[in-house]
Amino acid sequence: MAENQGPVVITVANQKGGVAKTTTSVNLAACIAERGKRTLLVDMDPQGGCAVCLGMDTTTIEISVYEALVRPKASIADVIIPTDFRFDLAPATIDLAGAEIELKQALAAETVLQRRLRPVLDRYDYIIIDTPPSLGILTVNSLTAATHVLIPISTEYMALRGLRLLLDTLENVREVTNPGLDILGILATRYDARTINSREVYAYLADFCDREGIHLFKQVIRQSVRFIEAPGYRMPLTLWRRQLDGAKQYRELAAEVLNGKT
Ligand SMILES: Nc1ncnc2c1ncn2[C@@H]1O[C@H](COP(=O)(O)OP(=O)(O)OP(=O)(O)O)[C@@H](O)[C@H]1O
Ligand SMILES: [Mg+2]
Repeated sequence: MAENQGPVVITVANQKGGVAKTTTSVNLAACIAERGKRTLLVDMDPQGGCAVCLGMDTTTIEISVYEALVRPKASIADVIIPTDFRFDLAPATIDLAGAEIELKQALAAETVLQRRLRPVLDRYDYIIIDTPPSLGILTVNSLTAATHVLIPISTEYMALRGLRLLLDTLENVREVTNPGLDILGILATRYDARTINSREVYAYLADFCDREGIHLFKQVIRQSVRFIEAPGYRMPLTLWRRQLDGAKQYRELAAEVLNGKT
């Protein structure tokens, strides 16, 4: 992407819970930053998982994405904090749950994040946005502010339900607020090669992506207990033990993102 077109803004979205949106956002941000790109991670989920995964004490966060969205004349610049991992974070706290209601009353409610990000666009090469497990106003804002969307899908039957609804939502966002939104790809997560279920679901996904003309990332993220333990390491898994398979898989994904369509 040409320099003067601004940063690549990747929203990580799937309304299904627990499919590794936050794990992917945090590790992708770390891997992209490690490759020398100026990177910002924006947490649009009131659960505030990004700060937790980075070992921050969320009770000490005084100003967060909530204020950046709802205060008059505020911007994301007001809430950005540096992390120890070469990228910046705009953290979320539970306050953000209130924004769901407040934003609905705002003018052009779907474009608030896009407008509030504008002052920082020239500071970054990549902006990664983590989203909540819903298709509400916070996710729609995140999709409206994005150049690309990355869809993590947990490799199990139940995870495929709702994919059509998500694609319909993306189509709607394209039609109404963000015609330039590209699907960067679908990422198969929590893949367990030992189970027939994972292999069958992956095969279905590959076929589905082929039919729909959607990119399926070559790199698959495998099921690993290390990811469940990861918040306890207080840093992205990719930095905690570089040689772990999970760390390598996210580095490969970052390489695919950097070398690929963006
Ligand atoms: N590859 C993996 N292998 C095993 N566990 C994983 C993997 N990726 C993520 N997890 C675990 O699955 C759980 C959900 O992951 P995560 O929080 O990243 O999902 P999410 O989509 O952000 O969830 P939510 O919808 O609640 O925001 C966490 O306990 C996480 O540690
Ligand atoms: Mg999450």
